[in-house]
Amino acid sequence: MNSNFARAFFIDAFDDEPQRLASAPARVNLIGEHMDYNGGEVLPIAIDHRTYVAVRAAADRDVSRVASGTHERLGTFDARAPERSGEWWDYVAGVVRELSALGARIPQLDIAISSDVPTGAGLSSSAALEVATTLAIADLLGVGLSAQQAAEVAWRAETGFVGVPCGIMDQFASALAREGSALHVWCDTMRTEHVRCDEHVLIFDTGVSRGLRQSAFATRRGECARALAAIQRAHPAVRERAHAALADIEESGLDAVLHKRATHVVEENARVKRAVIALEDTGVIPGELLVASHSSLRDLYECSSPELDWFVGHALAFPGVRGARLTGAGWGGCAIATGEADALSAAATPLEEAYAREFPHHARSWVVRAAGGARIEE
Ligand code: GLA
Repeated sequence: MNSNFARAFFIDAFDDEPQRLASAPARVNLIGEHMDYNGGEVLPIAIDHRTYVAVRAAADRDVSRVASGTHERLGTFDARAPERSGEWWDYVAGVVRELSALGARIPQLDIAISSDVPTGAGLSSSAALEVATTLAIADLLGVGLSAQQAAEVAWRAETGFVGVPCGIMDQFASALAREGSALHVWCDTMRTEHVRCDEHVLIFDTGVSRGLRQSAFATRRGECARALAAIQRAHPAVRERAHAALADIEESGLDAVLHKRATHVVEENARVKRAVIALEDTGVIPGELLVASHSSLRDLYECSSPELDWFVGHALAFPGVRGARLTGAGWGGCAIATGEADALSAAATPLEEAYAREFPHHARSWVVRAAGGARIEE
C-alpha cells in the first residue's frame, strides 16, 4: 500500500483527482495496558501498516460519498448534518461532525479509503482511519490542527459518534508517533514525549475476532470506576486510579474483583515508568517487564485468553526472544514478542504452524519496528 495506489483508487472510484491525501498508521502498545482510561501512562509505537484517505470537495452535490477498498458498497452521508448509520463509514462521518463542531464549514466530499491495516485484530484500524480522515479534510479546508488536536478530533469521533468507549491511546499513537521512537503518553494530562525505541517486535494476531471484546471492555471500565470511587472515599486526594498507592487499595475495602483490577492499574503504571527509563538507556525494554505485564493482565485484569497465553509461553521458549505479552484490549486480538530481529523472524512461522495445530484459528504475524505517525502525502 502506498500513496500512488491510494490516489489511483480514488480516481478509479470517482473519476477525478483527489485534492488531498493523508495517511495514518496502525499501532501496537509496548506496555501500559488498560491505562489510558485509568489516568495512567501508555507506551505505543506506530507500525508500518497504514490507512490512506483521499478527499475532494463536491460542493455541488447534496450527499458525500465514501469508497473503500474493503467494502463493495459506496457509503453516503450528508456532510452538513452527519448522522450515525451503524455502517463502516460512521468513522468518517464522525470526523466530519467533530470538525464541524470546531467551526469548520464542511462541503460535501468524495472520500476514498485504502488500507493495509488488518481489521479486527486490535491494531487500531479505526484510529488509523479516523486520524487519516481528520488530517485530509482539515488540510483540504485549511483548518489548522496540531497533531494532538487531530488525535482529539479522531478520539471524539470514535467515542462520541461511533460510540466505542475507548481511551485516547490509539488515536494519539496514530497521530503523534515518530519513526524510531515509542510515544509515551501521560493520559491524565495528555502530555506526550518521544522515547528512543530500537525494538524489533513480532506481532502475532491470534485470529480470534472481537466477540466479547467490546462488552468486556465496558465491564472493565465500570469496575475501574467503582474501584476509584471506593478508593476516593478512603483517600479523597487520589484523582486517578493509576495514581493510587498499593496501600490506598488495601485500605479501601475493595471486594476481591475490584482489588485485582486496581492492583493491575497501579503496578502496570509503575512498569511503564521502568520501561521508559530502560528505553532511554538502552533502546529496549527488559523482557521481564513485558512478561510481568502479561501475567497481570491474565490474573488480575482477566483480559487474556488461552490463545494469547499460549503464544506468550511458546514465544518465550525461542532463543533470542526477550519478552512477550498480550497487547491492546485483550480477549483475543494480538500479542507481541520482543528480542533479536533474527530470532523473531525465525520464530514466526514455527509459532504460526504450532498454533494451527493447537487452535481452530488462523494466525498471522509481522515483525515491525517503530514507524512514523500520520502525515499529509504529497
Ligand atoms: C483498546 C482501547 C484503548 C486501550 C486499550 C487497552 O485498544 O481502544 O483505548 O484502552 O484497549 O490498553
